[in-house]
Amino acid sequence: MQKKKMQRAVVIEQTKLGEGIFSLWLSAPETAAAACAGQFVSLYCNNETRLLPRPISICEIDRAKGAIRLVYRVAGAGTSEFSGLLPGDTLDLMGPLGNGFPLKEAEGRRVLLIGGGIGIPPMLETAREISGDVMITAGYRDALFLTEELGGAGRLYIATEDGSAGTKGTVLDAIRENGLEADVIFACGPKPMLAAVKAYAVEKGIRCWISLEERMACGIGACLACVTGTVGTDEHTGVHNSRICREGPVFAAEEVQI
Ligand SMILES: Cc1cc2nc3c(=O)[nH]c(=O)nc-3n(C[C@H](O)[C@H](O)[C@H](O)COP(=O)(O)OP(=O)(O)OC[C@H]3O[C@@H](n4cnc5c(N)ncnc54)[C@H](O)[C@@H]3O)c2cc1C
Ligand code: FES
Repeated sequence: MQKKKMQRAVVIEQTKLGEGIFSLWLSAPETAAAACAGQFVSLYCNNETRLLPRPISICEIDRAKGAIRLVYRVAGAGTSEFSGLLPGDTLDLMGPLGNGFPLKEAEGRRVLLIGGGIGIPPMLETAREISGDVMITAGYRDALFLTEELGGAGRLYIATEDGSAGTKGTVLDAIRENGLEADVIFACGPKPMLAAVKAYAVEKGIRCWISLEERMACGIGACLACVTGTVGTDEHTGVHNSRICREGPVFAAEEVQI
């Protein structure tokens, strides 16, 4: 197993993007140098009563500055602590972790990126690392975020539950309404959305990779807290399971049972 080193990251900037949604730029040169789109980091709390790291996807990578951007929603005690970080504050992180999206599969193909809710942030770096025309469908429940950056990285199609922006409905409603056609789909978002995207890809014969989320503990493949059901058998456990933190979080849609 590849050894991951703990790094001390320094907060460069933190901004509030919407109710409970924050953007955090961290100076983390080793992570920025090694990271690719679709990977995540494990962030440690400074409050030592919260032992387990919190997995957060990499939203942007600035390799020249040795910095990464994370965009997260406050969900509980850990992310609430992160939201109070100020420039100059430090925190431990491990990363980059996981496999990331298979960008080679996008080369010369019509690519459709689909993000739902807090699965939208990793789509920004993914869009930027794909050369050529990229379509991005982003589904929001309430407040919009990252729309300017996403619009600059590809052709952006928005879906909102209440119809306040873009298509009223789901990301699939936006895809159908706009007549989007693709050869390859990369998606990240809540499980019901990913299940619907997988079914859509099967129906249309589109190759599809999805980024899964599961509660994690170690984040590096040691504890099996994050397994997901797979079609094939895993070489580590010999059963129909894969560790999302290690073999994932990105899987070919046909490989996983969702
Ligand atoms: C690969 C991956 C990438 C993620 N990327 C993002 C992102 O870019 N932005 C974002 O807002 N959120 C992301 N999440 C979800 C994020 O990890 C959780 O919201 C966060 O861990 C909640 O921590 P908490 O202390 O605030 O909440 P609490 O509920 O207090 O957390 C308690 C414990 O459960 C774990 N936990 C709780 N919810 C989740 C969850 N959904 N996934 C994994 N562990 C969880 C926590 O890490 C912690 O150890 C990602 C999760 C995974 C697995
Ligand atoms: S979180 Fe421990 S194996 Fe994935």
